[in-house]
Amino acid sequence: MPAGAVITGWGSALPDNVVTNADLEARLDTTDEWIVTRSGIRERRIGGSVSALATEAGRRALERAGVSPAQVELLVLATCTPDLAVPATSAAVHHALGLSGGAFDVNAACSGFVYALVAAYGAVSAGAARRVLLIGADCVSLLTDPDDRATAVLFADGAGAVVLEADDDDDGLLAVDLGVDGSAHDLLTCAHGGTMVMEGKEVFRRAVRVTVESATKALDRAELAPGDIALFVPHQANLRIIEAAANRLGIPMDRVAVVVDRTGNTSSASVPLALAAAADAGRLGPGDLVLMTGFGAGMAWASAVVRWAVDTTPGPGSGPRGASGASEP
Ligand code: UT7
Repeated sequence: MPAGAVITGWGSALPDNVVTNADLEARLDTTDEWIVTRSGIRERRIGGSVSALATEAGRRALERAGVSPAQVELLVLATCTPDLAVPATSAAVHHALGLSGGAFDVNAACSGFVYALVAAYGAVSAGAARRVLLIGADCVSLLTDPDDRATAVLFADGAGAVVLEADDDDDGLLAVDLGVDGSAHDLLTCAHGGTMVMEGKEVFRRAVRVTVESATKALDRAELAPGDIALFVPHQANLRIIEAAANRLGIPMDRVAVVVDRTGNTSSASVPLALAAAADAGRLGPGDLVLMTGFGAGMAWASAVVRWAVDTTPGPGSGPRGASGASEP
């Protein structure tokens, strides 16, 4: 049985259509100033489908890892906006990419990617798969009323992906914290065929508190302190939430991954989009400890501490290490 698994590739995909705050200002009773001050969002991407975005992000992650589709033995897709009610959107993505093995969807909304990450690590350690493609993808704009300024300015579309590979010499996943307060599930809802309704202020309050509590639990379980973390990747809902949580944890913003200003809130895609952007920017190196925390509808949360394994510095010599490379059949 493999001891653990490490992330060996990453990728992201966003719709081409950029919607700026000025675009929203032109058709809604809102202002760029309100949106930036209250949320930190300056623009977002709207369009496409979850299967198309997930496929593109997945393809890029596989290329980055040097893993062929046939080598993938499991696909886990985190999404709360599947293309269809049935079947799972992962089936379409599995086919589009030509993957091997099984596939399933995970719906834990904004914490979905971290839940899916834990499930993927579990599948590897159970011996079910040695290579897993893990994608977070959502088209949240499909759930929002475009005329509702309370939600239309916040939520958007995108996908992020990672490749997880078995590694007998590396734990990879150091600790997790999973939780849900179902008594508050009605704070953020969308009925079948309806549009999203959110009690923003209460969700905000909980988001800061729960992000800090969950991140702290995961750090404690890993016997780590915030100062040990090279990169904190929180859910990208609101820059004020991210800054408040990082501040309370004692993690300086130069060690926090932020994309919410240009992506808006992409739910299941937000953590992998922020992680992929940081990796693309060369902000991670072998041995770095990464703390990811998701929080959202449910109200569900999930934190994971992982040890990063690959060099992200752009240029020759970067890329996956050792046996994770491209040459294996
Ligand atoms: O991903 C899942 C988790 N989701 C979150 O974490 C989101 C959490 N919540 C938030 O990020 C913030 O609560 C919001 C960004 C949604 C709202 O910020 P806020 O500072 O909590 O504002 P508010 O809801 O208290 O609204 C303040 C005012 C209200 O007007 P009154 O009642 O004071 O007259 C709103 O009607 O702002 C008004 N408002 C807007 N004004 C201009 C609400 N939306 C807008 C808008 N443009 N788009």
